[in-house]
Amino acid sequence: MQNFDYSIPTKIYFGKGQIEKLSKIAAFGNRVLLVYGGGSIKKNGIYDKVTEILSENGIEYFELSGVEPNPRVETVEKGAQICRENHIDAVLAVGGGSSIDCAKVVAAAAKYDGPAWDLVLDGSKIKEALPITAVLTLAATGSEMEQYAVITNFATNEKLDAASELLNPAFSILDPTYTYSVSKRQTASGTADIISHVLEVYFTREKDAFLQARLCEAVLKTCIKYGPVALAEPDNYEARANLMWAGSLAINGLLSYGSDVPWSVHPMQHILAAYYDITHGEGLAILTPVWMEKVLSDETVEKFAEYGRNVWGISPHKETEEIAKLSIEKTRAFFAAMGLPKTLREVGIGEDKLDALAEMAERVEKDLQETYVPLTAADVLDIYKKAL
Ligand code: NZQ
Ligand code: ZN
Repeated sequence: MQNFDYSIPTKIYFGKGQIEKLSKIAAFGNRVLLVYGGGSIKKNGIYDKVTEILSENGIEYFELSGVEPNPRVETVEKGAQICRENHIDAVLAVGGGSSIDCAKVVAAAAKYDGPAWDLVLDGSKIKEALPITAVLTLAATGSEMEQYAVITNFATNEKLDAASELLNPAFSILDPTYTYSVSKRQTASGTADIISHVLEVYFTREKDAFLQARLCEAVLKTCIKYGPVALAEPDNYEARANLMWAGSLAINGLLSYGSDVPWSVHPMQHILAAYYDITHGEGLAILTPVWMEKVLSDETVEKFAEYGRNVWGISPHKETEEIAKLSIEKTRAFFAAMGLPKTLREVGIGEDKLDALAEMAERVEKDLQETYVPLTAADVLDIYKKAL
């Protein structure tokens, strides 16, 4: 097992009615920037509740609304400007990963003398940030409990992670009932994202991290059990609660401490999104089974068989290779049953984009040199082509 420094500093208030803890934001000051997306929080009443609590606690709030799914650097700049002009004391994201990621980089950019994109390119430039808080409304990215923020720059076709310990939220409120209004499409996409976060670290070269592998399997099985329940019964508390907590645990470091490995599928998906603005979890659901087929070999077959036996319950009496192949089929079938797209064509990326896909493969190759199975640009292009 590798050495690691454990630190998961975000305080979580989990469960029904925990929104009342939002009053604790007053500890940071009385001027808050409220960051949210395209208006779902106005339709489901969360906006009214949040603003009521802020007002009751004597907090003046300013707003950055309209944060895009796949938040853009221009929106971050706008938020940082509002912070500087209004002497904001803390930021409060209310929404999914996009609003939280945007709020995180706004918090850092407000304290930085230069373009916000500098901070995305190089997290070590983040020396200071406003306190970050969040009310989560969608189980997916885990942004509510970790130090990353993914921002897109369409001018350069880049979608990159800003990373800094200063981007850990001080606290996040996780009320599963707030996810009852999430659409089927976003529920499926969020579940695929959580599964992908786990798979990115489950398939590691570290061989003796037994505990981490079992923790990964528990989170995967939770998604496989409750994803379909949340689709069929959007207001099933047990399903929404299990998915919400799975989303946070999948990426907060717990599963990867001691068995860390650079991720494989996310870099390939992020570059697709930077060109074509596709939904994060949908891209992952399309690419993951194709990536699995690409990296299955004599060296990896035992790990895939372990995945098949422990996660999908495939009979241990079958041949190792058959179990490994079945595990990939099960993964593909699960995403399909959740209503997720199976091909890039379904999300608008067809044969006519082959030149662009080749360019993307060249650009992403540098991120895939130390992954579970290192991939060349030719390998990535092959994965994109097979996913068409
Ligand atoms: O914008 P609004 O109106 O709020 O609607 C959103 C949006 O349309 C809607 N939604 C959210 N909560 C809802 C709801 N609709 C009804 N009821 C609710 N309670 O869902 C749509 C998607 O929201 P978004 O925040 O974009 O989704 P998600 O949480 O999946 O975030 C995706 C972004 O996070 C990045 C992705 O790349 C993408 O940019 N990621 C962030 C990570 C991180 N911080 O570590 C890791 C991930 O791998 C990922 O890259
Ligand atoms: Zn993700």
